[in-house]
Amino acid sequence: MELTNIQAAETSNGSYEKPRKEVLREQIRELVTQYHAEAFPARTFTPGQSDVPVSGKVFDAEDIQYAVDASLDFWLTTGRFAEEFERLFARVMGVRDARLVNSGSSANLVALSALTSDSLGDEALQPGDEVITVAAGFPTTVNPSIQNSLVPVFVDVQLDTYDIDVTQLEAALSDRTGAVMIAHTLGNPFDLDTVTAFCRKHNLWLIEDCCDAVGATYKGQSVGTFGDVSTASFYPAHHITMGEGGAVMTQKPALTKLIESFRDWGRDCWCAPGKDNTCGKRFEWQLGELPCGYDHKYIYSHIGYNLKLSDMQAAVGVSQLKKLPGFIEARRANFKRLYEGLSDLQEFFSLPQSTPGADPSWFGFPIAVKPESGLKREDVEKTLNQRKINTRLLFGGNLLRQPAYLKTKYRKIGDLPNTDYVMNNVFWIGVYPGLSDSMLNYIIEVFHEIARRR
Ligand SMILES: Cc1ncc(COP(=O)(O)O)c(C=O)c1O
Repeated sequence: MELTNIQAAETSNGSYEKPRKEVLREQIRELVTQYHAEAFPARTFTPGQSDVPVSGKVFDAEDIQYAVDASLDFWLTTGRFAEEFERLFARVMGVRDARLVNSGSSANLVALSALTSDSLGDEALQPGDEVITVAAGFPTTVNPSIQNSLVPVFVDVQLDTYDIDVTQLEAALSDRTGAVMIAHTLGNPFDLDTVTAFCRKHNLWLIEDCCDAVGATYKGQSVGTFGDVSTASFYPAHHITMGEGGAVMTQKPALTKLIESFRDWGRDCWCAPGKDNTCGKRFEWQLGELPCGYDHKYIYSHIGYNLKLSDMQAAVGVSQLKKLPGFIEARRANFKRLYEGLSDLQEFFSLPQSTPGADPSWFGFPIAVKPESGLKREDVEKTLNQRKINTRLLFGGNLLRQPAYLKTKYRKIGDLPNTDYVMNNVFWIGVYPGLSDSMLNYIIEVFHEIARRR
């Protein structure tokens, strides 16, 4: 019997048979499991010969099954898996709403852009308003300010936590300050008591960049729930991955509508792809100077973007999300192992410290090579890389010294000496769940060798 519709068909004995396309889907899933076992066998680790990555996607057959399942739907654009992910991720993060976008950078862009909407009245950020941030970090935490004609104001970071130095916040304030937008550096929450109190006192927006910090908590509360808007990234280096992907989160329904609008071309309409007339008055709106009844689907209330992601990416996210608790636990355990293994080398290296009150969800393990140790960061990195242990810098180091920012309009508080220290002395190694005990032991051994050889 050819079964082509979605309904199960009744067989002669009265039982129900699955539609053939569902049977085929299951066979494909099974084949994917077999394919995964063949194509991605467990690798053995040979110290000195195998790479010790800083990060990478950790995935199983189920993740590929989800990607294939979404491909078989051939819906392609954002769809059922995206809806499911948004609902589940909001619950995991403890926020009211999470909206998917195609990267963490897009999430930051949408988050800040949403706060420029005229619909926020006096609260809207205006061109020339200032956004307090730090220069020791990732560029796309800062870029949305510049892209929205706002002025970044840089304060220094603390050493060892690598988070914002909150003692400089008051000095950074001006009558144009409108927001604070900062990241929880490498998964280590910044001092949220001080930052949220400062924002409340001066009526400022707070945007929490949680791209590196999914799962981190501060005094028992999840990061991402403190700010007006917060963001996440699902690039392979991050806590879970969709390849490319990000999320914008908020507790405030009015902001969700703005986030959707900026993500979806700037439109006023909030229908999901493929849906019409969700508002029930599609042809009854009169907005701007458009004639009454102009199709709501084509009314634009913001200068927006299209930053949606595909349902194949979202499907991988749904599958990865199931593994998030285990991934976070592994990152914390790997961090602890490295910390214990390197703690006798503090004459040479400054080890990372978590912010008081914080339980970080580490993205990496930052290390400062002490200038007085006689070691140089570049030499340490070279040796590690020769021994196949990968390293990364703390992103842009001091963004203000990067070519892209030399002509940018900004203010800074003092000379940012710690930011320069980060640029000159700090690097990080991996803690991601793909690291095995033998890799961690090997890392610790090579660090001891470097210290002995000095
Ligand atoms: C703190 C921070 N914010 C934003 C981003 C950008 O995320 P994406 O690579 O998904 O654009 C990153 C990237 O790693 C990051 O570390």
